[in-house]
Amino acid sequence: MRPSTAPTSTSHGIRISGVSKVFPGLPRPAVDDVTLDVAPGEFMTFLGPSGSGKTTTLSMIAGFTPLTAGSICVDGEDISRLKPHKRDLGVVFQQYALFPHLTVTKNVAFPLQQRAVPRADVEARVRAALELVGLADFADRLPRQLSGGQQQRVALARAVVYQPRALLMDEPLGALDKKLRDQLRREIARMHRELGMTFLFVTHDQEEALTLSDRIAVFNNGRVEQVGTPNELYERPSTLFVAQFLGESNVFADDGAEVVVVRPERLELHAEPGAVPDGCRHRKAVITDIVYVGNHHRIGLRFADGTEGSVMRLAGTALPAAPGESVVASWSPRHQAAVPRPAATWGV
Ligand SMILES: Nc1ncnc2c1ncn2[C@@H]1O[C@H](COP(=O)(O)OP(=O)(O)OP(=O)(O)O)[C@@H](O)[C@H]1O
Ligand SMILES: [Mg+2]
Repeated sequence: MRPSTAPTSTSHGIRISGVSKVFPGLPRPAVDDVTLDVAPGEFMTFLGPSGSGKTTTLSMIAGFTPLTAGSICVDGEDISRLKPHKRDLGVVFQQYALFPHLTVTKNVAFPLQQRAVPRADVEARVRAALELVGLADFADRLPRQLSGGQQQRVALARAVVYQPRALLMDEPLGALDKKLRDQLRREIARMHRELGMTFLFVTHDQEEALTLSDRIAVFNNGRVEQVGTPNELYERPSTLFVAQFLGESNVFADDGAEVVVVRPERLELHAEPGAVPDGCRHRKAVITDIVYVGNHHRIGLRFADGTEGSVMRLAGTALPAAPGESVVASWSPRHQAAVPRPAATWGV
């Protein structure tokens, strides 16, 4: 893995070792023995379903939640027991949490004043931070005179203005509508490139994770199931959970303790088994539905064993068959990922 930005003096590594969090009264740990290395300058995303422990992990790194076990180091220094403001980490949450009675400039200047930065420097650094987030012309406004997206930009500017060792963000785009979210997502990617700072980003939105991250840590039930580049997670998922959480999957029972996962764009459809290319594997299926999704068609399949799946075809290419018709779906073994068969409850 290579960070998208060369490490600079503003790049710091974060090591999370055996970190757990037990909340009294919960049947199992909210975070359960998580170990993770974030490289200097890396854009790392915590991705996972609701309740999987993403926020709790980020909050332990930020210092708002004490650890039950384990340690967190920045550049080798154990920060696990430091107060949040001593950790030198910038934090942005889903809710903007700006000071409502302070102007944009004063909001962004606040962390510098707390750190007793000389007045002349404050002005220059606030201006640079506002330019970074495209808000130089909004310096004198109050938060309520800004849109949600603009308020979140102020929060970003305030979190990076004192040049922290890393920027931690918990669903920073969650409260915005889709268009603003896409726009601010591109801004965050650009900020990462320009600052060369280590970014830790939390989301349950797979598209956000895939497009922003150098690497993604997939959380499930308080544990990290897999850490990898977007491509590794998509092409080589190590568990069925990861395969099904990221993108669509066809899941086929295989001999023994494994099932195989094949992505919809890797399946070919044929009228009969004789048409399957040599060396390819195949399954019989019935087409259940065909949905036009903008630039492609999603062809729904029901396989002979009753499991559901799908094939993706770019719009403009001829459709192989109609709903209700029988087909044979084939794939090359090169394009399958074998993962352990999950325990009991699961029916292939
Ligand atoms: N202060 C708390 N006291 C008790 N339990 C908590 C506390 N904070 C979180 N939990 C529990 O810990 C588990 C993990 O919560 P967490 O907020 O880390 O999940 P998440 O992955 O961020 O979910 P979401 O995507 O919904 O934000 C959940 O079961 C949650 O109910
Ligand atoms: Mg959360």
